Amino acid sequence: MNAQTILKQMTLEEKAAFCSGRDFWHTKAIERLGVPGVMMCDGPHGLRKQEGEGDHLGINKSIETVCYPTAAALASSFDRDVMARLGEALGQECQAESVAMLLGPGLNIKRSPLCGRNFEYFSEDPYLAGEMGAAYVNALQSKGIAACAKHFACNNQETRRMSGSSEVDERTLHEIYLPAFEAVVKKGKTRSVMCAYNGINGMFCAENKTLLHDILRDEWGYDGFVVTDWGAVKDRAKGIAAGLDLEMPGGPNATGEEIAQAVRDGSLAEADLDRAVLRLLAFVQTSLENRDPEAVIDRDACRRLARDLAGECAVLMKNDSILPLREDQTVALIGEFADKPRYQGAGSSHINVSHTVGAVEAAAGKAVYARGYDAHSEATDPELLKDAVTAAAAADVAVVFAGLPDAFETEGADRDHMRLPNNQNELITAVAKSNPNTVVVLHGGSPAELPWLEQVPAVLCMYLAGEQAGAAAVDLLWGQVNPSGHLAETWPVRLQDNPSYLNFPGEDGVVTYAEGIYVGYRYYDKKDMPVLFPFGHGLSYTNFAYSELKLSAESIKDTDTLTASVTVKNTGTRHGKAVVQLYVRDPESTVRRPVRELRAFEKVALAPGEIKEVSFTLDNRVFAYWEPKCHNWFVESGEFVIEIGESSRDIRLSRSLHVEGTTLIPFVVTETTSIGQLLKHPKGAAIIRGMMSSSAMAHADQTDSMGEGSERMMQEMTLGIPLGALVSYGRMTPEQLRSLIATLNDA
Ligand code: BGC
Repeated sequence: MNAQTILKQMTLEEKAAFCSGRDFWHTKAIERLGVPGVMMCDGPHGLRKQEGEGDHLGINKSIETVCYPTAAALASSFDRDVMARLGEALGQECQAESVAMLLGPGLNIKRSPLCGRNFEYFSEDPYLAGEMGAAYVNALQSKGIAACAKHFACNNQETRRMSGSSEVDERTLHEIYLPAFEAVVKKGKTRSVMCAYNGINGMFCAENKTLLHDILRDEWGYDGFVVTDWGAVKDRAKGIAAGLDLEMPGGPNATGEEIAQAVRDGSLAEADLDRAVLRLLAFVQTSLENRDPEAVIDRDACRRLARDLAGECAVLMKNDSILPLREDQTVALIGEFADKPRYQGAGSSHINVSHTVGAVEAAAGKAVYARGYDAHSEATDPELLKDAVTAAAAADVAVVFAGLPDAFETEGADRDHMRLPNNQNELITAVAKSNPNTVVVLHGGSPAELPWLEQVPAVLCMYLAGEQAGAAAVDLLWGQVNPSGHLAETWPVRLQDNPSYLNFPGEDGVVTYAEGIYVGYRYYDKKDMPVLFPFGHGLSYTNFAYSELKLSAESIKDTDTLTASVTVKNTGTRHGKAVVQLYVRDPESTVRRPVRELRAFEKVALAPGEIKEVSFTLDNRVFAYWEPKCHNWFVESGEFVIEIGESSRDIRLSRSLHVEGTTLIPFVVTETTSIGQLLKHPKGAAIIRGMMSSSAMAHADQTDSMGEGSERMMQEMTLGIPLGALVSYGRMTPEQLRSLIATLNDA
């Protein structure tokens, strides 16, 4: 199959029709030219292959398979290897099931804890999301299966997800909402990208040329194809012109006539259509070449993998010396989720499993069980509560399994509060009162308020950990596995503390990202606010000590790379894994910057007493911010601090260096440029100083009569005067002003 040769033989109508799917899950075949259709399926934490009728909501049955931890859990592993193991397993399964492309990973940033789809997304931090996504994509694609980075971009809520517009400024877009996609394009080499339903600043993603062409292809060098989210297409021809290639799901109405007509009437260049067709043909061709007809899948091995991965992801949030449990302790497992864990979310990512393992089953013989609450209700059932309290009182330790029920979190709808159901909060309070050794295990795809936190000595967060959730919880509780997950998002004390609170989910389909770059810990740390658990937080049954932070230089240019290394030691008595987090701080800056930003991390396994050196290679992006005046990344010269921590609020070591920026921000002088701004202009400073000594500053001797502080007032007012005003003040003629501006802009 040669794409160029095939393209030449295709009619206009065939080309136009090829840009839509045949049905819910297949591309169209062109039989007369020997081009077969290929299949794509939902993931991303399992394979949702529908052999019967298709849908994008997870309604109709899909094949029975294995459900792995969802992205919210996976990101907490802070472990690229976890992503790689999952990507490879899914790649193998796709091969065995003749699926060419898996629709994931989901890379949208967790702007608000309320987003109904947060369980499918990685983090509030773009670097972490990008690293996890890229590792997954590389592994999946190493098996010959195409990944699909979704939902590009700014699909950070479910309310009006198909028609709303996210209003985001340029800097925020580039610093927060795009980098995870950029990483998956550049490092992960994803073969496809799915554009989001929503618009950005009033322009739907499906026809957004800035997004799909200028940024994705020109800036990032992307050479794969772009598919719509299911039903996201608006104007077909406009989409093709903007860089969109494939409309899904397609079906009988997707004839391509709209596209063909646009080419005929000259409103769409045939070359644009040809480019889209070529990219799709290349995808089909690569998929055929990559097909492994021998591939088989060992689902038992997948189940073991699901259990292992869930153990790597869980976050021990709190532990006042009660965990791990000892074999000689009597234990009561309490709460419906102990028996039937919540392990995935509803919607298009929903995986059909044959069996879910709960902690009650996994701990068989080691613990008694009391149901405690009805997971489908909010109201306390007095009988269930009484039995639970009795079981708790009779045991050495009570472990309550709680969390967000299915109905709270789903694709298509956002949560409207951040609380757990009342019956669960009441149960935990009552159990903790009857037995002070109460541990809480949490399930859910997003943070919740934990009003009883002070009353319990330990909390283990499993997130939505896949079908083996209960087995992994037992491994962790009894210490067969040492917890090593760290939070990929801040857990605020209450919903009102979240930076998007006043602007979520927007009004009338318009949501303004008014908090700008201050998303997640970037906001909480800047405001120095108390949080329940900070970004990056996670405990272990052992301890780690950090020392010898070394930098390869004390002063660099932004074109140099910097190496930072640090030594980590396991100072406890158990084997464990540390997550070494590297943050960069810019203590002095002329623009607003977060206190610190995560710029590198590594997960390290250490035996008791073992010491390892971890080293990071850092390029100029770690010091840069997005400067709208250059439409580019920009490093401002000055001091920067490299910090090593176990969370964004637990910094253990730091070291500063000087970085010299080697580019300049273009300085365009206009009538509104102020005297103060001009004093920073290379040529302007001398000219303006000359003018000031003869004019405005000459008034400085009048300050006596104007009272205290007047000198400062005069100075500030002078600095604030725009150039244009000098004409009205009679200091220059309009002609002189024009010539001055021209001279300065030539400088
Ligand atoms: C979702 C996508 C999914 C697609 C196909 C859409 O509704 O937003 O994430 O891949 O359906 O099921």
